[in-house]
Amino acid sequence: MQDTLNALLAKAPAQIAALQTRTDLESFKAGLTGPHGEFTALMKQLGAAPKEQRPALGRLVNEAKARLQAELDAAGARIAAAEIAAQLGPAVDPTLPSPDAGPGTRHPLTLVREEMCRILRKAGFTIADGPEVETEYYCFDALNTPADHPARAEQDTFYFPERARFANVAKKVEGEKYLLRTHTSSVQIRTMLKGPPPIRIVSPGRVYRRDTTDATHSANFHQLECLYVDRDVTVRDLKALLDYIFASLLGKDTVTRFRPHYFGYTEPSFEVDLAAKHLPKVNKEWIEIGGCGMVDPAVFEAVGYDPEVWSGYAFGMGLERLAMLVYGIDDIRYFYQNDIRFLRQFS
Ligand code: DAH
Repeated sequence: MQDTLNALLAKAPAQIAALQTRTDLESFKAGLTGPHGEFTALMKQLGAAPKEQRPALGRLVNEAKARLQAELDAAGARIAAAEIAAQLGPAVDPTLPSPDAGPGTRHPLTLVREEMCRILRKAGFTIADGPEVETEYYCFDALNTPADHPARAEQDTFYFPERARFANVAKKVEGEKYLLRTHTSSVQIRTMLKGPPPIRIVSPGRVYRRDTTDATHSANFHQLECLYVDRDVTVRDLKALLDYIFASLLGKDTVTRFRPHYFGYTEPSFEVDLAAKHLPKVNKEWIEIGGCGMVDPAVFEAVGYDPEVWSGYAFGMGLERLAMLVYGIDDIRYFYQNDIRFLRQFS
């Protein structure tokens, strides 16, 4: 019996190493421990062996069983790994260029931003930029927005903790807080502090508000701000520019109207509505598109311009709202989901 066991142990490793598939493995196991298996036969012989030999033989059988089991487990793992490798196919070389990515397409917000900037450049505006991390001074104080104004409340604005430091954004006022800008109007102040009028700038950029996301709100979105400062600027100039912009962007059938409103940084102030029935998915008569007005003398004073000499207009509008109009998009969340089926439509 010992000889049979040794013979079994001698040939088994090579046989197990040759097993290629799960089926091979299972039939090999059956050949050992199945009803007619070699190992089963040995166990039967063990029962027939003389009583005094049984403990020693039993130990040998158990040792042999453990060794075989370890080899079978290893073979099982090897076969499973081979199956996965076969499913994965040949190894990927991540250093090669992707075969299917293509050059990509512009995001609809980029398209509308670039188109608006192109239209405004034709009217003499140049691009101005400002940081997304702002201080209370640039975002509110210099824009004549008092400390108790609701827009400044914690529930509308993302403030940074007192200890936050931004080396590239200098505080203007001792003890003021850093925040994420709630509108691009802060760029008006930064631009005016850089030098004297005339000024004619457009500033597109990202802004942040503590809004809960739904079909028309997002905690970060994009605005486009314009500021014009010169001598003898009037509301007529403002209205003419807005008419020109929207006719250029949305077609000559677009009509704009002003509704009186309040903003701290303009006086008078208006909300701008559009009527553009020719656009896809527009079912309201008037669509609110932004805010505007004549720069408030208090803002000129804050930046050191003489309000007796200088006059100007400013306006700001949401880029998402514009892009939704242009392309007939009915949910703001599409812009941020990076769904390729959505994005490909703008190529
Ligand atoms: N900052 C305003 C907002 O975020 C929009 C706005 C209104 C911008 C009037 C202006 C303005 O420049 O004059 O709702």
